[in-house]
Amino acid sequence: MTEEWVPAEVDIHRPSIARIYDYHLGGTHNFPADREAAAKVVASMPELPAVLRVNRDFLGRCVQFLADAGVRYFLDLGSGIPTNGNVHEIAQAVDPTARVVYVDNDPTAVGHARKILEGNDRTAVLNADLRDPKAILDDPEVQRLLLLDLGEPIAILMSAVLHFVPDDDEAGALVAAYRDAMPPGSFLAISHAADTSENTERIDTAVETYTRTVAPLKLRTRQQVADFLDGLEIVEPGVVPCELWRTDAPDGRTLPQICGVGRKPVEV
Ligand SMILES: C[S@@+](CC[C@H](N)C(=O)[O-])C[C@H]1O[C@@H](n2cnc3c(N)ncnc32)[C@H](O)[C@@H]1O
Repeated sequence: MTEEWVPAEVDIHRPSIARIYDYHLGGTHNFPADREAAAKVVASMPELPAVLRVNRDFLGRCVQFLADAGVRYFLDLGSGIPTNGNVHEIAQAVDPTARVVYVDNDPTAVGHARKILEGNDRTAVLNADLRDPKAILDDPEVQRLLLLDLGEPIAILMSAVLHFVPDDDEAGALVAAYRDAMPPGSFLAISHAADTSENTERIDTAVETYTRTVAPLKLRTRQQVADFLDGLEIVEPGVVPCELWRTDAPDGRTLPQICGVGRKPVEV
């Protein structure tokens, strides 16, 4: 029997990006097919669960930084299945009037987010594909909650999602479309699976396995991640492994997940 939280359209026998991530983070919104696919990838890359944890930790520090910097409007693209340290929890702890729109194209992620956000009228959840920036930015809920017509600074978050857009030109164009649409003073935050000098054949095997069993996955270099922030003022400490973004790696070692945050200049 399928559990009651599963939306009707979900095929629980096909692994999903969102549910595999939930599994690695210790969540319960996943099925045997997800866990089997996860195990296949972990067989060649045992550090993967740690990579995903440092990514999630980066996201938490990043939202805290942005909220402390005065950002009150967040657009979280590829937001995933809600788990500890959701964007609205961190942002609304700083200011209860903060607003968050979550966007994902996975029905489990969207369904669960809608359920836990019932009654929180400063949040919305969109079932949409981030590869269609116009549809997302023109969406009435996005316009209404993020006050886009007033030009208030917002934060656009793309945490661990752009590596699921394998085509470099498509990824570059869609990020540029969001960057262009952000009002001055807005922030763009990105984390991305990285192609670093640490990478070895076994990581290529993990990427190949993930691509074959779940969804196409594309690692990018530090420079490619920096290029996504083109034209923005890069927040210190720059484009770095997630463990080094406004904290210290406990043992000095880093994993192949790169992040960076940029702010759109305010014209004077
Ligand atoms: C690895 S999870 C990251 C979740 C969260 N952003 C974080 O960093 O903790 C990636 C999420 O992106 C979503 N995703 C992948 N491709 C997407 C697309 N084209 N449009 C919207 N969401 C997408 C997946 O469904 C999944 O929930």
